[in-house]
Amino acid sequence: MSGEHGSGILTVLSLLALQLQVLLVGGDYIPPAKSDGFVYKNRHFNFDAIQIEAFYDPLCPYSAESWPPLQTALDHYDARVSLVVHLLPLPYHDNAFVASRALHIVNGLDRSATFPVLKSFFKHQEKFYGAPTRNLSRASVVDEIVKFVTSVIGNSSETSIKNGFNDTNTDLLTRVSFKYAASRGVSGTPSFYVNGFVLPPADNTLNYSDWRNVIDPLIGVKKSM
Ligand SMILES: *[C@@H]1O[C@H](CO)[C@@H](O)[C@H](O)[C@H]1NC(C)=O
Ligand SMILES: *[C@@H]1O[C@H](CO)[C@@H](O)[C@H](O)[C@H]1NC(C)=O
Ligand SMILES: *[C@@H]1O[C@H](CO)[C@@H](O)[C@H](O)[C@H]1NC(C)=O
Ligand SMILES: *[C@@H]1O[C@H](CO)[C@@H](O)[C@H](O)[C@H]1NC(C)=O
Repeated sequence: MSGEHGSGILTVLSLLALQLQVLLVGGDYIPPAKSDGFVYKNRHFNFDAIQIEAFYDPLCPYSAESWPPLQTALDHYDARVSLVVHLLPLPYHDNAFVASRALHIVNGLDRSATFPVLKSFFKHQEKFYGAPTRNLSRASVVDEIVKFVTSVIGNSSETSIKNGFNDTNTDLLTRVSFKYAASRGVSGTPSFYVNGFVLPPADNTLNYSDWRNVIDPLIGVKKSM
């Protein structure tokens, strides 16, 4: 190898190293200390279970609509199917990031409260986007969301939830959720993956029988393997 070639390669290598460094410094939370996502009913990843990943925005009406039939399907299949919810706060949904951060705060305080709070956001989401919050400051939106969350999980948690909004780590976790979705190429909600493969976007919200049609054949295949 000639000296010139050698230094050329070195230059390329040091450029690559620099780029890697920029990547790491630009986002020192990548990779995060813990995988992103909320695990439904603590059914953790298991190679024998069918794995559904849902990308949800707590303030997205279509996400809200898709949850009841998915929950019914999860309850039907019980331990044979696991679900991880990833949050993707969409920039065009007002306050989606604050609502997502609230979910990370709740999850940090008490994991069993995460899904009840997500369901409440789905149920009352119209309070938090569009006209009702248009004239509110960011601080008042946070106050409203703290009140809302404590009304679900109990008034005694109010201080902890408030403090959670002052904890930069919960901001970081919410950014990680966003970046995780971006890294998977997800740009809309709801989006679903089954055993790592994307479910093609449907024109209609997936109903319970749609979920059965997706999962039943996989269970059938597993049985014969
Ligand atoms: C927001 O403020 C604008 C301008 O002050 C006012 O016209 C509008 O009615 C307000 N909207 C709400 C929902 O309060
Ligand atoms: C929680 O606080 C709200 C408003 O401050 C109040 O209306 C409600 O009764 C309280 N709930 C409990 C269980 O203390
Ligand atoms: C959160 O931080 C702000 C500014 O640093 C401070 O004014 C506020 O009192 C803090 N709130 C809580 C609940 O700690
Ligand atoms: C579920 O949705 C599919 C279309 O995706 C539709 O053909 C079917 O009739 C629906 N089933 C029920 C029970 O609503």
